[in-house]
This record gives sequence, structure tokens and C-alpha cells, in this order.
Amino acid sequence: MTFRSTLLLLSILPLHLIAQNIPVKINPQLTPYTVKEIIKTMTLVEKVNMVVGNGFKMPEDNFQSVVGNTQEGVPGAAGTTNANLRLGIPYMVLSDGPAGVRIDPLREDQPGKTYYATAWPVGISLASSWDVDLVKTVGVAMGHEAKEYGIDIMLAPALNIQRNPLGGRNFEYYSEDPLISGMITSAMVNGIQSNGVGTSIKHFVANEQEKNRFTANTVVSERALREIYLKGFEIAVKNSHPWTVMSAYNQVNGTYASESQDLLKTILRKEWGFTGIVMTDWFSGKEPIAQMLAGNNLLMPGMASQAKQILEAVKTGKLSEKVLDENIEGILNIILKSPSFRHYKYSNQPDLKRNGQIARETAAEGMVLLKNDEQVLPIAQRIHRIALFGNNSYDLITGGTGSGQVNCAYRISLVQGLSNAGYTLDKELEKLYTDYITGYKSTHPKKPMLQEYLHPTPSAPEYTLDNDLLNKKVVISDIAIVAIGKKLGEGNDGKPENDFYLTVAEKTAIRIVADAFHAQNKKVIIVLNIGSAIDVMQWKDYADAILISWQPGQEGGNAIADILTGKVNPSGKLAITFPASYNDVPSKKDFPGKEFPEKIIKTIITKGPYTEDVYEEGIYVGYRYYNSFNVKPAYEFGYGRSYTQFVYSNLKISSSTFNGKIKASVTITNNGKVAGKEVVQLYLSAPTKSIYKPAEELKGFAKTKLLNSGESQTICFILNTKDLASFNTTLSSWIADAGSYTIKIGASSEDIKLTKSFTLIKDLIVEKVNKVLVPQVQINELIR
Ligand code: BGC
Repeated sequence: MTFRSTLLLLSILPLHLIAQNIPVKINPQLTPYTVKEIIKTMTLVEKVNMVVGNGFKMPEDNFQSVVGNTQEGVPGAAGTTNANLRLGIPYMVLSDGPAGVRIDPLREDQPGKTYYATAWPVGISLASSWDVDLVKTVGVAMGHEAKEYGIDIMLAPALNIQRNPLGGRNFEYYSEDPLISGMITSAMVNGIQSNGVGTSIKHFVANEQEKNRFTANTVVSERALREIYLKGFEIAVKNSHPWTVMSAYNQVNGTYASESQDLLKTILRKEWGFTGIVMTDWFSGKEPIAQMLAGNNLLMPGMASQAKQILEAVKTGKLSEKVLDENIEGILNIILKSPSFRHYKYSNQPDLKRNGQIARETAAEGMVLLKNDEQVLPIAQRIHRIALFGNNSYDLITGGTGSGQVNCAYRISLVQGLSNAGYTLDKELEKLYTDYITGYKSTHPKKPMLQEYLHPTPSAPEYTLDNDLLNKKVVISDIAIVAIGKKLGEGNDGKPENDFYLTVAEKTAIRIVADAFHAQNKKVIIVLNIGSAIDVMQWKDYADAILISWQPGQEGGNAIADILTGKVNPSGKLAITFPASYNDVPSKKDFPGKEFPEKIIKTIITKGPYTEDVYEEGIYVGYRYYNSFNVKPAYEFGYGRSYTQFVYSNLKISSSTFNGKIKASVTITNNGKVAGKEVVQLYLSAPTKSIYKPAEELKGFAKTKLLNSGESQTICFILNTKDLASFNTTLSSWIADAGSYTIKIGASSEDIKLTKSFTLIKDLIVEKVNKVLVPQVQINELIR
């Protein structure tokens, strides 16, 4: 990295700071000098430059005018910290995101060279595999790519809760359940960080919607925060030690997450023992001083105005220099671990071929088979001619929009995937759809980068089929596949109409294809190319089989073909509930918050109406709601079919009385004809003595190995004291109530196969925590 060694400190300082005349006398270097020694020798200006990032490089100039200088780095990466070459401190390069390394694929000064990255299956797809080992493998591969492209920290994974099916970023979040979110995040972090590059788990915390994200205030009870929204982060921090945490844009109970000492110091550091650094989300919050005081070590991407305010505050005594020192200490400790500090000679040649193969296998593992009447899948060997309908068969959505997007070298569409698998595909249909989509795209060109990022150009409406064409296709085809896709993204929540519910054109396409093919006794398979739960009730009876492919990354078409052909037996299960109607969604009343147009908030980058998102459903998120209030979903949490069947037997628990720990074991046998994997789920029903509780909660899960026909595997789970506990707000404590607990081993949250009970003799205060993040307004919370 020759350019790094030639950078001069002064060339990277914001202009207004250069004027400060820094006394540069000695130049001790970070190592052999220690972090503390180095901080002692820093000038105030140098200190300010450590806690404020180096600015944001946008093609649109309006951003350039407000941010600090930009230094080299990796083109297209989200930002860099500031270097201090006098003291031997390099800058670190930070890059999105959860679905892969997001950098520019081409560089003007290097014609002919490419910097593509692997577009991995999105978060919801990874979580639907319920396979922590697999996700770790993805993390190892993603981290390798990051490192070989000169990245120090990946701005990933993202683990906010899928609270409402319309959440714009649901696709990159994992689940409605904090245990899955926390465990999948831990696996990903452990994988990425095994390469010696860091992660930034995000967005901490309660950032479940996109509307007015800079000015929104999440109002949420202490209990729901602890049990649902903080829980996944707690698991991840304790199990995987992410180098960094990214504080969210929103306020939590009246204080910006990035300005909340309760959140960033009391909970994250004191209670959970986090030793890394906190960085802001890009341009978040209002007060840089409050952010510094909260222990938000690093302000990203960094603005000159922030640097100026911090400098002034220290000079006028409003901010103690010690606070800066503490924040810098954290940053330098991370820099010490970074590839940039170690002068890692990155190759710019990650093994994209190998990673493409892993992406294909991973995408298939996350796919969920919802329906398979008369075992229409896998596609029978006698079937060769496929009529492929639906825009998304030809234009597969590989991932969502915004910072979770990846510039990959290729995208395998479904038509390509099936063709690669050896099927004969209808050429006329292919031409009709591709001409239509290309025509639409040419009349709806993408906007400049920032506008496209914030207001993505909508995809082409579903192509309108005519009956004559259909009748012709039925005769010459053995089977029909219709792929329907939905895409939301950063900055854009969906709407019930046309996002949760299919458009009229999409429903019509499904119906008329089904009518035509069923009339000739031919089957219809629907592929859902989605990133969040959608309605299925209005049309699912038309389908013989329904497969959710999710947004499966660059190898999507091949991976879908692997499942449809039976090369891979589906083993994904839903990590979210598919509600029977949007009206059933417990957060529908509050989502996406109430806007107060008269209260305009000015943040450091923007202004907008104060928006209050009151989480009135409390702890009853997802299946915790549907199961406790007997609301039947279309497909429940944990659901997913296989091409084989599994028998659950021999549930044993280590004791009928709880004594600090309990072990449960269960045997899973594949008694079908083909090899397959099963996701085994452990739910716990707790006694409701001191406080109300959900009907059951997921406390453990495991995926079997590939079990051959007739083969068995015994799965073990351990429940610890904290697994029994719920959060008692009055006592600010996790309490396990005395009484009878039931372990329910299920193939889904509704399909419980075996149960066993045990007793806890005495109430247990499992953990006393601090009374913090108390809502300032009354929440009319759902209770049972
Ligand atoms: C997103 C983050 C992302 C950052 C940098 C923000 O707008 O919320 O998730 O990491 O931009 O691109």
C-alpha cells in the first residue's frame, strides 16, 4: 500500500484545524509506544481527528461541501478513519455490508481491472438456514474478501428485529426472534473476524423501521427492550466480541442511541462487558459532544462541523479532554488489530470462484418449502419442458437496496439456473419477458447514486399474459413455474398494498397460469423471491408447490434449480411468521410511527418531523404474539417442509427439578426415502407467577447433519438459569418464577412433537440490572 506510506498528516486534517499550528516535535510511533503513551503526545487537534471520521465521498457534490477531506482508501467503501502518520497510526477502511463487501467494481484509472465482490444471500435467507456452522463459513469467506480488498472493518452484520413485514431493511435483518438473531450474528462475526478483520454489528438499537429514521423516537418498554430488542445484541457481544458496534439513527425513549450513556456505557459496556468501540451510523444524531460523552468513540463518516464543535468544547471546558482520551484509547486498540496497522499486503484478488460456490450452497440451505402438494417437487425426471412465468424468473432480485447492496460480477437468473440444470425452457416466453423488462428499464433509467439509494426506481410491473399465449404454452410444456419478487430497502418501508399483498397483476398472473395448467392436469410451482413476509393467503390455493428462495445472492438461479431438481433437499425453516393478513400483525397500528409535522428536528445532516414509534405490542412480537393470542398465521415461525420426513423420539431431560442447568436430548430419524436435514427447535413455556409470559419462547435450536434414509441423530440442548428468566421491570431483574416449566421440542412453533416438564422449586433472581432507558411516556402495552 504505497499510497498509505506517502500520506502526510497535515494533508488529511480538516482545513480549519490546520490553522491551529500543531507543535510537531517528537514523533513517537504507535508500537513500540503504547496506546496510552501515544495519546499523551497527541495535540488536541490530533485527538479530534481520531474521533471524527474522514468524510464521505459521494459523486454528488452537495455532500462534499459539508464533510471533511477524503483520503484515498478503497473506492466505494463507506468511509475511513483519519490517519496520523506522525504517530504511526494508519487509517482504517470501513465497508458495508451484511450481504457482502460493498465497493466500487470499476476504477477509472485502472481500465480492464475489476473489483467485484460476492453477493451473498441476504440476512433473512442466512437465518432461515438455522445453521450457525454454515453462517460461520459464509463469515470466513466474506471476511477473506474484505481483507483481500483492503477493508479493515465490515459494517455488518445487521440484527434488528423483523417487527413488521413492511420494515424496509427486513431483508438484511435475521429474524423476529432475538435468539436466532443473536446466534446467527455471533456465527457471522466469529467467521469474519477469524480473518483478522473487524465487524460492526448494527443498528444498536430498536431501529426497526426506515421512515424518518434520522428523527424517529422509538418508545418501548424496558421489558420489551431487554427481552426482544437488546437480547440479540447481548448474545452477539458475549459470544463473538465484535470489534465494533454501530449505534442506531433513532432515539430510544427520548435520547438518540448515539448519545445515550445508558445504552452505550451502562448496558453495552458495564453490563455486557463490551470492550470494542462504538461508531455512529452515517451522519447520525444531533450533538457530537453528547455522542462523545456517551462513549460513542467514533463519529462516522465524519464532518468538519463535528470536529469543530468538539475542539471548541474541549477548549471552553464543556468537554473534558479525558473523554476524548478514553474514546481514542478504544479506537487505537482496534487499530492495533487491523490489517492496515499490520501493513497487510492485500491482493485485490479474493477467491471469488470459491465464494460463488459457497454462496450457491448457502442460498439453497436457506430456502423454505412452504407447500408441496402431491410431492410435485422435486420436479419429476419425466419433466423436461418448463414454462417459466413471472418477471422475476428473468430478473431475479439478488438482494435489497441501499447499503446492503453488493456489486457482484454476475447474477444467475432462474431461467439460467434451470437451463444450467438441463431443462428445456420456452424461448418465446423468455424473449417476451426479457424484451418487456429491458424495455421498461430503458424508459425508467436508474437515478444518480444518492437519489437511487434513497428512492430506488421501482421494478417493472408484472408482465400481462394473454390467454391465447398461455393456452399455447400449456400444450407444449410439462409444468409451469411462476416467480414473484418483492424488493424493499434502506430508507423505504413498504405499504400493505402491493408490498405485503401482491399486486393485482401478480395475483392475476398466478391465477391464470394455474387455471390454464390445472385444466390440462399440469402442475404449477410458485417461487417467492422476497426479503420479508408477504401475503400468501389470497393466492396460495392456486399453487401446487411454493418455494421461498428469498433474495438469494448472485448464485440464486442455480441454487433455486438445485432445490427444484432435488439436488438439494430443502431444509430451511421460517425465522419469521407469515401472517394470514396484514391486519393480524401486532405492530400494524403503530407502524411506521406517528409523524408530528409541527415538531421539526434538526440533526447534524438533515431535518425532519419528529416521529414517534410506540412499540405497543411490547414483548408480543412475531410468534410470541400469534401463539399467545391464538391468531392463526398462514405459515408459522419455524415452519418448513422437506422432501423427506423426520420422526422425533426419545426426549430425555437430565432432571425433573431444575438445579442450575438442565440438559435435554432428542433423537431425530429420517424415515423418508431421501437424505435430508432437519431443524429441531426447543421452546419453553414458563409459569406465569409474577409477570405475564408468552405462550412459549424459542430457547434452543439445532440443525441435524445430512441424515440418510433411516439414519438418526441425537441432538442435545442445555438450558441455563437465564433461559428460564423473564425481565421484571419493577425489580429491574431477570427473574425465574418457581413452578412448572415445559420443554417443547418442535419441528416448528406450532408443530410440537414431544414435551417434558421440570420444576423450579424457588423463585430465582438471575440477574439484577440497571434501571435505564425508561420510557418517558405511558405505553399502552399489550399484555396477556
Ligand atoms: C446505514 C448503515 C451503513 C452506513 C454506511 C447508513 O445509512 O444505515 O447500515 O452501514 O450507512 O453505508
